[in-house]
Amino acid sequence: MAQLEALPPKRIHHSKDGVHIFVNPYWGGKFVTDDQGALVIEMMDHENDEDRLVQQIADRLNINPYEAAARLVAFTEQLYKRRMLGQAEGFSPDNPKPDFGFLEVTRKCDTRCRLCYVDSGRELPDTLTAEEIYKTIDQMAELGVENIALTGGDPLTRADLPDILDYIRKQKGLRPAISTSLLSLTRELAQKMAELDVAVQISLDGCTPETNDWNRGQGSFEKTMAGIQLLNEHGVVFRFAFVINKHNLPDIKEMVALGIELGAREVAFGKVKLAGRAAALNEAVVPSTEEMIGAYHQLYRCDFDVKNSGLKVRCKHNQALLAGLDNRVGCLPCGAGRTFVHVTYNGDVIPCSLFNGCRDFTLGNVHHDRLTDLWQSSPIFRYFRQTTADDIGACRDCPVKYLCGGGCRADAYLGAGSTDAVCSDCEDLLAYYNWILDRGCQAKYITAF
Ligand SMILES: C[S@@+](CC[C@H](N)C(=O)[O-])C[C@H]1O[C@@H](n2cnc3c(N)ncnc32)[C@H](O)[C@@H]1O
Ligand code: SF4
Ligand code: SF4
Repeated sequence: MAQLEALPPKRIHHSKDGVHIFVNPYWGGKFVTDDQGALVIEMMDHENDEDRLVQQIADRLNINPYEAAARLVAFTEQLYKRRMLGQAEGFSPDNPKPDFGFLEVTRKCDTRCRLCYVDSGRELPDTLTAEEIYKTIDQMAELGVENIALTGGDPLTRADLPDILDYIRKQKGLRPAISTSLLSLTRELAQKMAELDVAVQISLDGCTPETNDWNRGQGSFEKTMAGIQLLNEHGVVFRFAFVINKHNLPDIKEMVALGIELGAREVAFGKVKLAGRAAALNEAVVPSTEEMIGAYHQLYRCDFDVKNSGLKVRCKHNQALLAGLDNRVGCLPCGAGRTFVHVTYNGDVIPCSLFNGCRDFTLGNVHHDRLTDLWQSSPIFRYFRQTTADDIGACRDCPVKYLCGGGCRADAYLGAGSTDAVCSDCEDLLAYYNWILDRGCQAKYITAF
């Protein structure tokens, strides 16, 4: 009696007009079959002994056991080929080690984006001093992070930035990273970034001055391009972060092309969040569900198209479909409390930058708390690491929850006042996944049983 390998317990099953698509969210496998195939898959869930399964199939389909066995072998081969079978690991939520420490080194920023969710502009009086920043970096190192990403505000507005980068790399042996709009990059700083192998994330919200500068202010695009030239002259590695809003939708594909042209490693796409200065703008900046479906679909295609270009397209809504989530299936779709820790400009410790200023989600402050203690004992960190889409009231019964992961919980909290509520993206996500699954149910891909 042979033991059959199990199908992934958490998977997506979607059907249209008698055609069924199964998606394996662990490693992105997809399998399209007919009604009989779906029935056999259901039977495979309940029987892992091959001989007994063959007999059950023969009885249900009214065929002889030899034919049932032959068909099952062929069907199972296809399930393997389409990456639907194989051992999937479960994720272990207990006290993971974060890779990234995000550290806001200032709130000062000369870009003054219309949509800035941290409401940056002027320096604030309670900003961490250089000494306090070094101590926070020490605490992050003690916690075990390997990368320290400086953010803000714009880190380039801090005169002591080269010393902070030096400290991260030379004193602590960690990798420094920066998120910036690169408006004021000097040759000296570019040289320093090259020397210390700093990973630079450049925020660019359009591939022309018109679209980018609508959010990031007149003249920003040209200054960013000048900064990129300096980075390239010094061989500094960089990626782009593009925040999709109603005004830059037409630039999505071009942005990928621009990334390739300028030598970026990645272009990461996310949708505008209604917090900080963006909160008041609402309808005027948020793309419609149809527009977001179009955007995610373009990015899905781009991911295939740029495979050999050296550039990666990052859009978390496509990752589960294209590459799978490994052992993160069912987890919340972000790394809050698992892969990163966030410290604000005044030392507050929060799960992610969207919780800036929320008292209920301020876990402590580096002036009087040890990051490692907060990481190990905070119930809010525990919430983020242990909650899965199965636990969220609004998502529990959703058919695509293992692709989606339940949407951004900070967004749900900011919009609806509860982390158990639906997030503002839900309609887009549900419609997009259903659309792509409907398209997957095409006769030409069917493996009949
Ligand atoms: C707050 S900024 C700080 C670092 C730096 N000033 C910059 O712009 O890269 C960090 C990232 O948040 C993004 N961001 C700002 N406001 C946003 C919003 N309303 N929704 C989504 N992302 C936003 C920015 O585009 C940027 O990539
Ligand atoms: S998003 Fe970044 S660049 Fe824009 S205002 Fe906020 S901190 Fe400044
Ligand atoms: S699509 Fe909506 S309901 Fe479904 S898991 Fe995502 S956020 Fe939750």
